[in-house]
Amino acid sequence: MSDVLIQSDQGALLIDGKAVAAQVLAEVAKGAADLIAQGVRPGLAVVLVGEDPASQVYVKSKGKAAETCGFHSVQHTLGRETTQAELMALVEKLNADPAIHGILVQLPLPKQIDAQVVLETISPAKDVDGFHPVNAGLLAIGDRKRALVPCTPAGSLILLQAACLVLGCPIAGQNAVVIGRSNIVGKPMAQLLLAESATVTMAHSRTRDLADIVGRADIVVAAVGIPEMIKGAWIKPGAIVIDVGINRVPGEGLNAKGEPKTRLVGDVEFSAAAVRAAAITPVPGGVGPMTIAMLMSNTLTAARRKA
Ligand code: GUN
Repeated sequence: MSDVLIQSDQGALLIDGKAVAAQVLAEVAKGAADLIAQGVRPGLAVVLVGEDPASQVYVKSKGKAAETCGFHSVQHTLGRETTQAELMALVEKLNADPAIHGILVQLPLPKQIDAQVVLETISPAKDVDGFHPVNAGLLAIGDRKRALVPCTPAGSLILLQAACLVLGCPIAGQNAVVIGRSNIVGKPMAQLLLAESATVTMAHSRTRDLADIVGRADIVVAAVGIPEMIKGAWIKPGAIVIDVGINRVPGEGLNAKGEPKTRLVGDVEFSAAAVRAAAITPVPGGVGPMTIAMLMSNTLTAARRKA
């Protein structure tokens, strides 16, 4: 695993999410081949409603990764005027389809659709996003054997474990702070860290003295979606920083098409944090690639359970 940590110019080790994701995907492809040899081909259905450009990119990447893993991969693209009833009818059809083991409805959904109702229509056994209350509940009671765990936190934990292994600092007993309380990342991340016996603090938009709380944390997981909100100077020397944020901000100059350039930054002020942290995930190339890898892993898990 030491080959997934790279020395940065600033001092911290960079946690190479692309390399870890490639390892996960290779294992999933092998697992899928074994299952196919037993007569079961893992199947993933991805549903896109509307034309959100970022969602189109994500959905395409998910379909490609599924094919690379040897899965049966289908994409359903519905118009932006799709009704809740139409979307739910598609989900019910996929729930009943024996060739499909994983269903993912890409978020955000158009405003006429209640996303929570749709997510709760997905069969928990096929809920490879891990967003159904049954899966959230299984995670909350510490039953990871039966749960499907949300992909971004599951991938973040693997990166954290890789760093802890190399640095020789087990997660158990460490002070961890999770900044952001979303159902998709913050809450499940806190549950995973708790299951690893970390002492977990959940911070959010109403938290007072955030700098002080971050300054006492051995593990920082930032999932707020605000560019560089977590200042490098707050980071405790020697901490491990997992930056879940992927924020597009204005860059310098113009691109080949003559448009203003943009660049991606995380929720953590990277350069200043990398001077203090022992290990940190870069943006891009950190948590991002792990999300799709864990989606494939969850699909394989769902197919294995069914088989
Ligand atoms: N939109 C952004 N991230 C995600 C994700 O992890 N799952 C789904 N379904 N939609 C998303």
